[in-house]
Amino acid sequence: MKVVSLVGARPQIIKEAVVQEQLQKNGIREVLVHSGQHYDYDMSDVFFKVLKIREPDYNLGIGSGTHGEMTGRTMIAFEQVVMKEKPDVIVVYGDTDTTVAGALVGAKLKIPVAHVEAGIRQEPHNMPEEINRKVTDHVSDLLFAPSRLAVENLAREGITEGVYFVGDVMYDLFLKMKPHFDYAVIDELSLQEDNYVVVTIHRDFNTDDPVRLKWILDGLHELSKQLRLVFPMHPRTKKRIQEFGFGHVLEGVDVIQPLDYLELMGLVMQSAFVITDSGGLQKEAYFCGKRALVVMPDTGWRELVDVGWNVLLNDDAFCRNFSRIKVNDASAQDRKQSNIYGNGDAAERIVKLLTSWAESGS
Ligand code: UD1
Repeated sequence: MKVVSLVGARPQIIKEAVVQEQLQKNGIREVLVHSGQHYDYDMSDVFFKVLKIREPDYNLGIGSGTHGEMTGRTMIAFEQVVMKEKPDVIVVYGDTDTTVAGALVGAKLKIPVAHVEAGIRQEPHNMPEEINRKVTDHVSDLLFAPSRLAVENLAREGITEGVYFVGDVMYDLFLKMKPHFDYAVIDELSLQEDNYVVVTIHRDFNTDDPVRLKWILDGLHELSKQLRLVFPMHPRTKKRIQEFGFGHVLEGVDVIQPLDYLELMGLVMQSAFVITDSGGLQKEAYFCGKRALVVMPDTGWRELVDVGWNVLLNDDAFCRNFSRIKVNDASAQDRKQSNIYGNGDAAERIVKLLTSWAESGS
């Protein structure tokens, strides 16, 4: 079997790490393609370095642009690679413009597509990631779901064939990398355990509307009077804050460069809680035993809200809501269920399923 895997943005590179390891273990030939959607050192290269992922065989160099430009450029360049490599299956991850481009190329060339992290759904339904997820799931042949809810979401849309609950590859990675988490930032910033909050905000619906962005920044400013806030900032957010002239609101907040995976996990492990609009980080906080205020109207990881672990934050009461997350809340610890995202063997299951599927010739 020959696999072509397509990555392009930070969260995909992370997911590829554990799948690649299993493909190698099983002697399966993998051609790795990077779309180039993320190109800054600390948005891309550093993840290859710290997670020891091998260099991509191709980098399509698509860079930034409108969604149409990024999706279109990826499709044009990726199609060439796929026609040359003639894989048995294309593996795509998550919900980015790179994901949907890869899935569409496979579907149009009639090459089976496997979607890792299939079945996640959330409002607003017109956010770019949600559109990418839906399209990708509907043209994929193998759908690897990270949660039971994801399987149900797919069934609601009539997708039942080729669907497998495998667990979340991000949980695999968390368990594998835990001994290597990097706690240096905590010392560098002289932070005290349980006495600071990790903040990440980068979704377009939070960053691109000045009124909403100001609401978030004002809330953070208020909280920074009580607790230290550490904010590794995505380039999009930085750009918008500069454009809208909101820089002064963040005085009192420790704004730092984006962190690599091991540094971010080290930082979360000793934090009080997390404030984020990242799909990945709200789950990683849970893996670390920390709760998250999720700055979104809805989340694809609804299980964590339903059990009372994470809290959605989407009304005017930004500051009041901070008190809904108590540090070291014992009753919350009781609610922390295990196995929501599998047993840490999602990548192993994915590769087994790919292998048996290829052997059965369908
Ligand atoms: C993308 C994904 C999102 C994922 C996120 C992780 C889509 C639609 N969204 O969002 O699901 O959570 O990646 O980070 O694909 N930029 C740089 N350097 C980079 C990358 C981006 O400066 O290396 C800037 C550019 O100005 C770019 C902006 O950030 O226009 C946004 O980047 P883009 O890749 O469009 O989306 P993300 O917000 O990163």
